This record gives sequence, C-alpha cells and structure tokens, in this order.
Amino acid sequence: MAAEAKTQPETSHPAKNVNEESSEPTVAAGSESSRPDDPQERLTRWVAGWAKPRDAPGRIAFHKADPNPNLLKNLEKFLGPEQEAGENRRVLVPLCGKTVDMPFLSSKGLDVVGVEGIQTAIDEFREEHPDIPLERLDRTSEGGFEVYAGPGLSILRGDFFELTSASAGTFDLCLDRAALVAVHPSLRGKYVAALDGVLKPGARILLVGMNYNQEEMSGPPYSIDIKEVDRLFGNGYDAQLLTANDVLKDYPNFVAKGCTALKEDAFLLVKR
Ligand SMILES: C[S@@+](CC[C@H](N)C(=O)[O-])C[C@H]1O[C@@H](n2cnc3c(N)ncnc32)[C@H](O)[C@@H]1O
Repeated sequence: MAAEAKTQPETSHPAKNVNEESSEPTVAAGSESSRPDDPQERLTRWVAGWAKPRDAPGRIAFHKADPNPNLLKNLEKFLGPEQEAGENRRVLVPLCGKTVDMPFLSSKGLDVVGVEGIQTAIDEFREEHPDIPLERLDRTSEGGFEVYAGPGLSILRGDFFELTSASAGTFDLCLDRAALVAVHPSLRGKYVAALDGVLKPGARILLVGMNYNQEEMSGPPYSIDIKEVDRLFGNGYDAQLLTANDVLKDYPNFVAKGCTALKEDAFLLVKR
C-alpha cells in the first residue's frame, strides 16, 4: 500500500520546532521498565538483549542482514535534490545497533554518524565490517560519548538523550529505523527534542516506524502511526507518509507474542 499522504500539521510555529514534553502519547506504555526516564535504567534492558549468546533465538531480532527495504525504496526522496550537488553531507543514525544501513549510506558518499549505547553492538559492528576500520579515539566528546572513528563512518557510544551539537555537530540527514519506536512512549518528546537539537534547518529525516495494535503486544518496539508522528513533529517539520509495508512475516517473534498485523511505515520529515 504505497501512499503519498500529506499529513496535516495542526499549526506552524517555526520558532518552536518540536513539542518538548507534550501531551500523553497515544499508545500504552510497555512494562519492561518501572522508571524509563532513569538514564541508567533506559539502557539496562538493551544490555541484557545484546548480552545473550549470539546464536540465542530471537536475539536482536531487529537486526537485519540487508539494508532496510524502506530505505532502498525511498532513497532518492530521503537524500533529496541536494545529493546531486555532491556536497559532503552528514547523516545521523540514532540508536544504530550494528545496522548495515550505516555502511550502505556511507557507500553513497555520506558522512555517517551512528549513536549507540551498548558496547557489544559496536564491537560486533567492528568485527563484521573489517573493511571499515573504526578506531577508538582517546578523547570522549561532550556528553561523555566515546568516539569510534573511521573513513566516512563513525559511532558515538553513549546515551542518545545526552546528544547535543557540541557532542556530535549538526546533520543534514537522519535515518531513524527502529529508533523512535524503541524509545519508551513517555520519552518520545525528549527523544525528538534531542534529535531536533542536532538537525540543520532543511534537514530530512527518513523515519521508519512500526504500526500495530498496541493492545496485542507490549513494546518495544512501541507502535507509532501518522497521528503520533504529527503530534511529535508537526510544529517544526513537514511530514509525509511515503510507504507502508506489511512485514509481519519477517517477525515470527511478534507473531508468537500475539501480533496479528504489522506494518513498517516510512515517513519523510523535512525540518522547516
Ligand atoms: C531496536 S534497535 C535498532 C537498531 C538499528 N537502528 C537497526 O535498525 O538495526 C535499538 C538500538 O538502540 C540502542 N539504544 C536503546 N536506547 C538507547 C539510548 N538511550 N542511547 C543509545 N542507544 C540506545 C539499543 O542498544 C539497540 O541497539
């Protein structure tokens, strides 16, 4: 079901880009953490997931061997007309895990910066991509991020919520695949504020979210739909739903939890 639906931002206030901590989210909160706002606790559950043996069934089920199909399908729209100019553009990949979307984007001539909280994810990325030597720098960047730098690609290890332009610079593009939906719904406003803080005016976000009946399964991933995207980004971004893919067959672990329908929606958001 490829859609080209223009969303209807309620208001336009260029000075205030995003809702900082706005009204209640539209989905139920998950139960994995009693204090999702605690900086320690919000990474804890991911530590456990990454620490499972590599061959444990369902371990990091979000990780895929190939670049995300929604990224491939919408690449031109994501990169936009500026790509033609061949400028050196920076793309942020929040909550990057060890995604192969990063080397893919780097191969398109973009300067890629991933942000990931868990060391194991970075170790596995380095191991699986010996052709992209990432060197751990001696210094940490503002906000306590460890820096792993390589040609055309680097990864900052730390808590995404601490990211500022002082720690990472500013970005022309952002690929958010399974990142916003991995964040507890009560933290979405904070997440979007951190993201907005490092994006240049005119920046483009490809937001690849998951849309399912939250009553069938608790998150993460937490379901988001176009209404929620408008609520979070409507004030400072023009949002468009690009594609909506049925992906239930790719997630047998969700079927086992009772999920009966699952769409991966891709939104293009352009910062005003
Ligand atoms: C659902 S996975 C998505 C990974 C990647 N985007 C992909 O497409 O494969 C979410 C990742 O975010 C990391 N993470 C979760 N909370 C984080 C935080 N607050 N700061 C940095 N990384 C975080 C987790 O360790 C995990 O690797």
